[in-house]
Amino acid sequence: MQLRMDYNNMMAGSIGAQGLTQADIDAWKPAIERAAKIMNEKRPAMTWRELPHNQAAIVADIEGYVAQMKGEIDAFVVLGIGGSALGPLAVQQALNHPFYNELPREKRNGFPKLYVVDNVDPERLVYLFETIDPAKCLFNVISKSGSTSETMSQFMIIKALLEEKLGKEKAQRQIVCTTDTAKGNLITIAKQENYKYYIIPDGVGGRFSQLCPVGLLPAAFCGIDIKGLLEGAAQMDARCKTDDISANPAYMFALLHMIALEKGKNMTVVMPYADSLKFISDWFAQLWGESLGKHFNLEGKVVNVGQTPVKALGVTDQHSQVQLYTEGPFDKIIVLVGVDEYRETITIPKLYGDMPSLGFLGGVTHNDLIKNEQLATEYALTKANRMNMTLTLPRVTPQTLGQLLYFFEVATAFAGYLLNIDPFDQPGVEEGKNATYALFGRPGYEEKKKEMDGAGQKDEKFVM
Ligand code: PA5
Repeated sequence: MQLRMDYNNMMAGSIGAQGLTQADIDAWKPAIERAAKIMNEKRPAMTWRELPHNQAAIVADIEGYVAQMKGEIDAFVVLGIGGSALGPLAVQQALNHPFYNELPREKRNGFPKLYVVDNVDPERLVYLFETIDPAKCLFNVISKSGSTSETMSQFMIIKALLEEKLGKEKAQRQIVCTTDTAKGNLITIAKQENYKYYIIPDGVGGRFSQLCPVGLLPAAFCGIDIKGLLEGAAQMDARCKTDDISANPAYMFALLHMIALEKGKNMTVVMPYADSLKFISDWFAQLWGESLGKHFNLEGKVVNVGQTPVKALGVTDQHSQVQLYTEGPFDKIIVLVGVDEYRETITIPKLYGDMPSLGFLGGVTHNDLIKNEQLATEYALTKANRMNMTLTLPRVTPQTLGQLLYFFEVATAFAGYLLNIDPFDQPGVEEGKNATYALFGRPGYEEKKKEMDGAGQKDEKFVM
């Protein structure tokens, strides 16, 4: 079972002058060769590329840990933000029942519920504590830097609460950390306070971390086949090793997007036609947005590049966004993500045969309806000369999902090098983190505070 990519509707043959030609692709040859060379040279440093191949011992440890803890807890709670939250959410939504937490325990095969607490809206934790019994939860604190305020503040609240309720010794069993091997406070705390911990390998940044313990641990605690996920990723790695752009789907996805960007397509809309893939769009939005949105290029020249990722869901957004996509500005690519086979089938009963506007639905399945609506949207976009392409998963399984995740990761890295920027840093995110530290007077951030104080006052006349 293999992910397929159909990019006919990106090309001039389908959408006329709005589309790309072989000459457009050929013009990027030097950039393609350069980017492919960097991908090969940097592969040893891109340790996220090896995750499908080198985690047998980690997987075994995770499986043992799940077996040991599963019966003791009602819920597994992720404390993390960015890549640490979006990946676990996307995989859970894709592979488990959409109402997983509402199912009785036996229908969850004895696995705990899953909650992901990323935001620090004060209502979030308070309402969570009204929903779960913290004493019966395992809290997974995930932070690569080990210092992100949102995650670390949640950890501190929960640690204090657990110690008050259960005492230090029992509380310790209910916290597990996932963090960098050396950087930041979390690893120090984990070692000092004897929490179980998993390591995020060097070279695996937050948004590229779903296939390491960041994503594997929450997935395994929800009964997901993590070996299958990694197998799928390895299958995609095999397809993405070649420098031949016409045989490498991730490279081609990236290239088409970057040529389109040069031609003014500033946005890419990822629109899965499957509820199970809804959060893949959120995960992709971080990956594409944070990796490609950069001020400087690799030579330190100001470039201010990037392509805005937009999240959509088929068919829901046909009734909200598709009017804009078909008739609005020619500034976006629409990536439809379909599945050949849904996990369930439901048939519409044969009612109202005498009413032509309803009768045609009788006997049709929702499977046919969603599929035909996807084809109809593709047709409407193409007729309106809008760049669109289709990714198809034969079924949503751990293997095909692993392929999709790895495909997007490789595509993002390659797109970064086609743009000649560093896809792995995030100075814009760090600026916001540092400004927060300064506002709280954190030692070491005095200069940042001075800079912020000198940034000028707001003019009252523009406040209504
Ligand atoms: O992709 C990234 O690096 C970021 O979005 C991080 O995932 C996010 O900022 C959280 O960082 P950390 O894992 O260090 O707590």
